[in-house]
Amino acid sequence: MASTEALPSVDGYPLVGIVPSYVRDPFACIDDIASRGDVVEYRFGYRRFVGVYHPDPVETVLVTEAAKFRKPDFLRQSGVEFLENGLFLSEGEQWGRQRSLLQPMFFLDRIRSYGETMVDHTRHVVDEWDDGEVVGLRDELSRLTLRILAETLLGVDIREERERTITRLSDAILEVSSPTSPAAFLPPWVPSLTRYRFRRAVGEFEDLVDELLTERRDGDPSGDDLLGLMATAEFEDGSRMDDETIRDQLMTFLLAGHETSSLALTFTLFYLGQYPGPRERAVAEARDAAEDRLGPADVPDLTAVEWAIKEAMRLRPPAHVLFRQTEEPVTLAGHRIEEGVPLTLSAYHVHNDEEWYDDPDEYRPSRWADGLEEDLPDYAYFPFGGGPRHCIGMRFAMLEMQLVLGTVLRSVEFELVTDPDDVGLTPATTLRPDSEIRVRIRK
Ligand code: HEM
Repeated sequence: MASTEALPSVDGYPLVGIVPSYVRDPFACIDDIASRGDVVEYRFGYRRFVGVYHPDPVETVLVTEAAKFRKPDFLRQSGVEFLENGLFLSEGEQWGRQRSLLQPMFFLDRIRSYGETMVDHTRHVVDEWDDGEVVGLRDELSRLTLRILAETLLGVDIREERERTITRLSDAILEVSSPTSPAAFLPPWVPSLTRYRFRRAVGEFEDLVDELLTERRDGDPSGDDLLGLMATAEFEDGSRMDDETIRDQLMTFLLAGHETSSLALTFTLFYLGQYPGPRERAVAEARDAAEDRLGPADVPDLTAVEWAIKEAMRLRPPAHVLFRQTEEPVTLAGHRIEEGVPLTLSAYHVHNDEEWYDDPDEYRPSRWADGLEEDLPDYAYFPFGGGPRHCIGMRFAMLEMQLVLGTVLRSVEFELVTDPDDVGLTPATTLRPDSEIRVRIRK
């Protein structure tokens, strides 16, 4: 057996551990922990975590020894009950059954068929912008990705109807699942305004899903969206997904697929606003790729657009940290870790490490053009995770982001109004800009 060494550890302050340093400057705090080793123990409040900061142990956890790890218990205790039954947090056989049932929704052919919807919604948003108008990227892109998701998952055009129910639910999910919300650290039975809003929004959403399911079952049950798939698909033993699970699953997808894509797009446009070279390349390419409008068939020609997105997700990975928990004692990078220990895998740190990237702070999409990926260790870049639990929506998200960004870039010019130095980062469940990013539109 390989010999094991004691884990390097950072205790921080009595009782609170590293919390004060983290609150002061989260990224300096993470860099400080990571400077002690590839795998480091630290205390956050009363909880002990093991942070993972190197591609090799990341690969061990996500891929090669994935069966020894699970999603951690503390995520299940967040009081957001619906997540437990959804694909993101379920485990074992329940997860396997769900994943195989839902996978066909994300096959390439199926995803391509959503391309036109993605472009339609983007053109609609772009058409609404006036010449000279100042818009907030975060708000606009969040609205857009929610519309796309609502139509492709639920078959609902939220511009026309049911908009408020879905928008309210999406806002309430983000609020209740935010680590800074009181709901995150109060026991689930303690009443709070956030939970009250969440429960009310869930109630309305339940009614909407019931209505939609009845419509599907009474009419054409074979809608080619996630709702249609779930309403009709059978597990291997012939059983069906019950209505409650369908509802939980839809909420999980709204949570996992909405803000992530909109943040990646927001950061991409934010960087393109600051770097004229990459912007001009992406604009020229998006304009040349099609005469009238972009479609899914044009995506292979959108390489500069793709690199612009990949590079933004390197610097600012929306899922900046992945969580796991050991199911049994494991050896990671030569260190023994006992059973039941929560782990944090820092995509942010690995993606910004000069060990793997030259001038890691530079936004340089062209680095992806030069065959960088072949030279990188496998898990030096993992915005969509990896192994069996990798993002089921990865291809959907890449297609969506390329079509949205390409359509925006060929339709309008924009200049940053917000000073980039004024934009900080909030490492919540996702990595967000801490303020709105405003741009002036030129048509
Ligand atoms: C830029 C956009 C996106 C990013 C960066 C992203 C990132 C991720 C990551 C890192 C994971 C793995 C989490 C872990 O291992 O703990 C994940 C899982 C997941 N993602 Fe995404 N995602 C994106 C878009 C989407 C979209 C559009 C959807 C749905 C339409 C989606 C649905 C899911 C689901 C359901 C899971 C759980 C999969 C499972 O455990 O089997 N994601 N995502």
